[in-house]
Amino acid sequence: MRKIREEQDRVRGGNLERPITLEDLDEMPYLRAMVKETLRVKPPVTMVPYKTTKAFPISDDYTVFPDPDAFKPERWLDENSSANQNPRNYLVFGSGPHKCIGLEYAMMNIAIVIADAAAMCEWEHEVTEESEKVAIIATLFPKDGCRLRFSPRQARA
Ligand code: HEM
Repeated sequence: MRKIREEQDRVRGGNLERPITLEDLDEMPYLRAMVKETLRVKPPVTMVPYKTTKAFPISDDYTVFPDPDAFKPERWLDENSSANQNPRNYLVFGSGPHKCIGLEYAMMNIAIVIADAAAMCEWEHEVTEESEKVAIIATLFPKDGCRLRFSPRQARA
């Protein structure tokens, strides 16, 4: 949250009334990395009925994502990281000819909602025993429904 806000305050200079543009998003690599990482850690589409038609070996020492359970937006910021060197390992939107056509649209929408909510609001998360548990109701939800309270925040120019 601190890094998201630093980036928002830097790029938008405290002017939160002006809508975020495509060019602004280009200046917000941390925000985009955070969205990508959030979707990796909790992929919303869990039931893609893939079927392997031939053997698909992954060797014992092959690491798809290092430190897979850690939430690390930074893994997307280094273009030489193994995450970026192997783009097909990111299966959140599928892969191949039927890859999601809404990918860019979805990622941009999530980014601007989070950007505005981070820049304009204080967030208070009431953590419960169910917060880290996942409920699958077609897509993923925190089991406790996500108990968040938002209040106005002063932007820092
Ligand atoms: C976070 C949001 C989204 C996620 C995680 C997601 C994920 C996926 C996945 C996993 C697939 C299957 C890909 C495959 O079979 O290889 C898919 C396909 C598809 N998605 Fe999305 N999607 C999202 C948002 C959207 C949006 C916003 C739209 C439309 C505006 C959309 C339209 C489609 C369509 C039309 C397909 C079928 C593509 C085809 O079969 O050729 N998706 N999506």
